[in-house]
Amino acid sequence: MSARTIAVGLLLTCIAITTILLIRPVVVDGVVHDAHGPIPDATIGWQGRGERVRSDLDGRFRLPGNSGSSWLVAHKPGFRITSSLSPSLHLNPLPNEDNDAYEWIDPHRDLSKPHNCANCHGEIYREWLGSAHAKSATNPKFLSLFDGDNRHLSWNARREHPDGSAVCASCHAPTLRSPTLDYDIRKAEGVAKAGVHCDYCHKVADTATDNFGKLFGRDALALLRPPAGDMLTFGPLDDAIRPGESFAVSPIYKESRYCAGCHEGVVFGVHAYATYSEWLASPARGQGKQCQTCHMAPTGAMTNIAPGKGGIEREPLSLASHHTPGTTPAMLRRAVRLQADLRDNAVHVELLASDVGHRVPTGFPDRQLILVVHATDAEGSDVSLHEGPKLPASAGNLAQVPGVLYAKQLVGEHAKTPSPFWLPMFDSTDTRLHPDQPERATFRFNGEVRRVVVQLWYRRFWHHVAASRGWTDNDTLVHEVTLDWPKR
Ligand code: HEC
Ligand code: HEC
Ligand code: HEC
Ligand code: HEC
Ligand code: HEC
Repeated sequence: MSARTIAVGLLLTCIAITTILLIRPVVVDGVVHDAHGPIPDATIGWQGRGERVRSDLDGRFRLPGNSGSSWLVAHKPGFRITSSLSPSLHLNPLPNEDNDAYEWIDPHRDLSKPHNCANCHGEIYREWLGSAHAKSATNPKFLSLFDGDNRHLSWNARREHPDGSAVCASCHAPTLRSPTLDYDIRKAEGVAKAGVHCDYCHKVADTATDNFGKLFGRDALALLRPPAGDMLTFGPLDDAIRPGESFAVSPIYKESRYCAGCHEGVVFGVHAYATYSEWLASPARGQGKQCQTCHMAPTGAMTNIAPGKGGIEREPLSLASHHTPGTTPAMLRRAVRLQADLRDNAVHVELLASDVGHRVPTGFPDRQLILVVHATDAEGSDVSLHEGPKLPASAGNLAQVPGVLYAKQLVGEHAKTPSPFWLPMFDSTDTRLHPDQPERATFRFNGEVRRVVVQLWYRRFWHHVAASRGWTDNDTLVHEVTLDWPKR
């Protein structure tokens, strides 16, 4: 190709673009209506573009023209998102009531089932598949505490609280149907086995605004499932379009109270799950950080939610990730700072949790942080503690070791070790970290200390529970600091 041909080509392209821009209107005047007449207060924009305008009392709107998408989109609470190439937009209402006979759609990829989510949303599906939500009904540790085998007569919810299974299912397997009211999650099949799955979460139309924890899981989340033959999906985008399906936008998808449905629960009278109320009291809430800000942060890698299936290119930082990581070692390391130093012949330790939306640890009530301080002399032999805290009996293998336990301990009748939350509770203590509030401890040792190793461990289940089940991955080392005492 000669330079001349390229120059002519460029010129022609410029002329073409200018012509397209010129014949596009500078503003679009349009109207929004439904079957009965004009609709005021609807929100209108171009698909994939940020600008939005409102319709006036006569349903009329004026929107600046644009050079990108030619689809106009409009929505309003109570209606589905509508789209049109012409400036007359017709809004269709949401169904009046939830359809309890709705058949849940499977998340997994299966091209013979055209509606399965993974067929079109491959990237989101992969993120979700790696999340705890995808395993909430099949997670072996959950199932072991839900209904272990005959070796595990305690810490076995179905044995210890036989009519409580439906309660566990309401958050862990929210679409499990159990005609016999047995709610045995071990027997979950089909979509119910996918736990907290796509279709369930995206049929949530609303959630409680108060009384969190009293109603939870299935009972806290208000679904709006369409009648047979209708397809309707809720989500955070106000401009999603797909022929044959309607979408509805809901602001709750970007708010903590959506997650509160399952992450806050007063179960059998015990405040077992309290992450949402901890968030309400946290500095993160004041800074406008919702659960999604930290747990569904965009990866920046996804630019299209349904590539090749009708999805459009979108700003990657506007698309949330469904991996919802929880306590990974990296997140814990970032969230909790450990400082240790030697002063006045003593070891001073300070722990500080920051940039976290709740207490640390949070979530399942048995989670613990354990500080362990180990001192040795010049020969490398252990030196005993003279003054300072020691770990309690509930620390199991670490009981009586110099250190501090940061945990919620539910104490049942006659119990020396913590009880599961499904047994009657007599007392509880809670020493977990509060965000932005440092916790300090001082340890003095007998004899001449030459080296001190300070460790912070994260423990998922009480030691005796994990040990009785042979779980070897129960403890994670978060921090380790080694201090050498100067020769005296
Ligand atoms: C625990 C409930 C939950 C589950 C399970 C879930 N989603 Fe979402 N989804 C959300 C929330 C909440 C948002 C909004 C997050 C935000 O914008 O911060 C969202 C956003 C989306 C979006 C908008 C684009 C984006 O990424 O922000 C799509 C599309 C979507 N989800 C599809 C899916 C699919 C497909 C699955 C299953 C593979 C799935 N979701 C599973 C709650 C869920
Ligand atoms: C045949 C392809 C296809 C299948 C199957 C499919 N989707 Fe979608 N979905 C789309 C397209 C296309 C969009 C719009 C994309 C855009 O606007 O960029 C979309 C948009 C969405 C949105 C965004 C809605 C909003 O307003 O925020 C959600 C949520 C969603 N889908 C969830 C699901 C779930 C859950 C399933 C399974 C039950 C599913 N999808 C199955 C193609 C599909
Ligand atoms: C329908 C109930 C339900 C909803 C709604 C829900 N979750 Fe969960 N979530 C669960 C269950 C059940 C688990 C535990 C699964 C397991 O460990 O077996 C869980 C686990 C988690 C974890 C722990 C992950 C880990 O690996 O430690 C995080 C983080 C989380 N959810 C965040 C969220 C966020 C953020 C939202 C709101 C956008 C949300 N969840 C909405 C039920 C739900
Ligand atoms: C400012 C960021 C931030 C916000 C906001 C936030 N979290 Fe977290 N979350 C974290 C960090 C960091 C961790 C890991 C440290 C820990 O365990 O606390 C975590 C851990 C978790 C865990 C795992 C707990 C465990 O040990 O199994 C769950 C579940 C969770 N968060 C749910 C939520 C929910 C639900 C909300 C909203 C009510 C929320 N988070 C708000 C940052 C945040
Ligand atoms: C209010 C909703 C809710 C109810 C009811 C509920 N759970 Fe959970 N459960 C959760 C959430 C959310 C998590 C994830 C918290 C985290 O990762 O720290 C979880 C985590 C767990 C875990 C930890 C799994 C792991 O691998 O770390 C076990 C075990 C568990 N639940 C057992 C039960 C049992 C047994 C019942 C019934 C007696 C029950 N849950 C009832 C919401 C609930």
